[in-house]
Amino acid sequence: MGASFQTPRRIGILTGGGDVPGLNSVIKSVVYRGAENGIEVTGIRRGWEGLTHVNLDDPASRERYILPLDRENTRTIDRDGGTMLHTSRTNPSKMKKIPEFLAAGHSFPEKDGRVDMSAQVLKNLERLGLDALIAIGGDDTLSVAKKLFDMGVKVVGVPKTIDNDLAGTDFTFGFDTAVNIATGAIDRVHTTAEAHNRVIVVEVMGRDAGWIAAYSGIAGGADVILIPEVPFDIEQVAELIRQRHARGRYFSIVVAAEGAKFADGIEKHGGASVAGEGRDEFGHLKLGGIGATLAAEIEKLTGFESRSVVLGHIQRGGSPSAFDRVLATRYGLGAIDMVHREEWGRMAALRGNKIISIPLAEAIASNRKVDKEILDAAIGILDKLDYKVTKNS
Ligand code: F6P
Repeated sequence: MGASFQTPRRIGILTGGGDVPGLNSVIKSVVYRGAENGIEVTGIRRGWEGLTHVNLDDPASRERYILPLDRENTRTIDRDGGTMLHTSRTNPSKMKKIPEFLAAGHSFPEKDGRVDMSAQVLKNLERLGLDALIAIGGDDTLSVAKKLFDMGVKVVGVPKTIDNDLAGTDFTFGFDTAVNIATGAIDRVHTTAEAHNRVIVVEVMGRDAGWIAAYSGIAGGADVILIPEVPFDIEQVAELIRQRHARGRYFSIVVAAEGAKFADGIEKHGGASVAGEGRDEFGHLKLGGIGATLAAEIEKLTGFESRSVVLGHIQRGGSPSAFDRVLATRYGLGAIDMVHREEWGRMAALRGNKIISIPLAEAIASNRKVDKEILDAAIGILDKLDYKVTKNS
């Protein structure tokens, strides 16, 4: 890291993990308030990859990974989805491959075929003259930030994930946009399901927690909501749908988080909730597929024609909702103020309507599950049997 300093003058900023709408609002607000306080902001492209892969002696590599930010090049970015800095799921301490220019005779520690390039990150921060770093990400990106903080890097975190499952903060930005997209999709499948007397399963994102499924299911008036927190009995789901049809509702909408779980295992039902082989550098499998298995099983058990749609990355695309733009702007301002106050190893968090700062360790300690209030709201608007589906299983 740069030599001793009182107030940081040059900081880096990066976005890691899956993109979410609102990332650009954080970047813009950091740059704007930084400029007011004489802090120069340097964008690191492609998340942690920017700090492991950049060859600072090669102008082309510099251009690829390093982008000085100012008011001019961030002026209008807050209306756009994605991230002007691009992102990746790189884990510096568990790299599958190291960049070619460093490969020959490197001395990075290796374990189980993975290379720990954390030292290279520190070296590049120093060479770039960066006094501190703002890392915007979910639990993976922030766990890297915490590790670097433990190694002496002055780092501040900003919470981001459409899954809304980061501990210590009430809402992550990107979630509201995703819920709006999923709710719009549920509204659309409602009309076609009703027209054809079909059951339609809508598979939404949500790896470990079912926030998107719960919120969009409530907002979109789903008949069944399935989330990872509450493993379900497929026979009870089928019975609920049969009862709806017996009451003259000849269509049903099921919203399922991609990480929702059959109580007896999806394999027993001829399916898989994993799409594709292999894990990323953080050990995650690529999820996807539960919607199709559910639709097939529901059709088999009820005899009602069923279909499924996977919303997938549509939920992460497009421009951020007004709520997310405001929240992300506030997170950015909170983060740069933390830099100013030299609150290292901490993350900006939303509590009630206030942006506060909490230790990174608290944010990455656990995964935040759908809470009782939201479960109660879902149960409140679903049919009685659904109450049992949620309660019994
Ligand atoms: O963690 C956020 C998330 O959007 C999950 O809901 C989803 O499982 C995953 O990312 C998808 O990741 P990728 O963009 O790498 O396919």
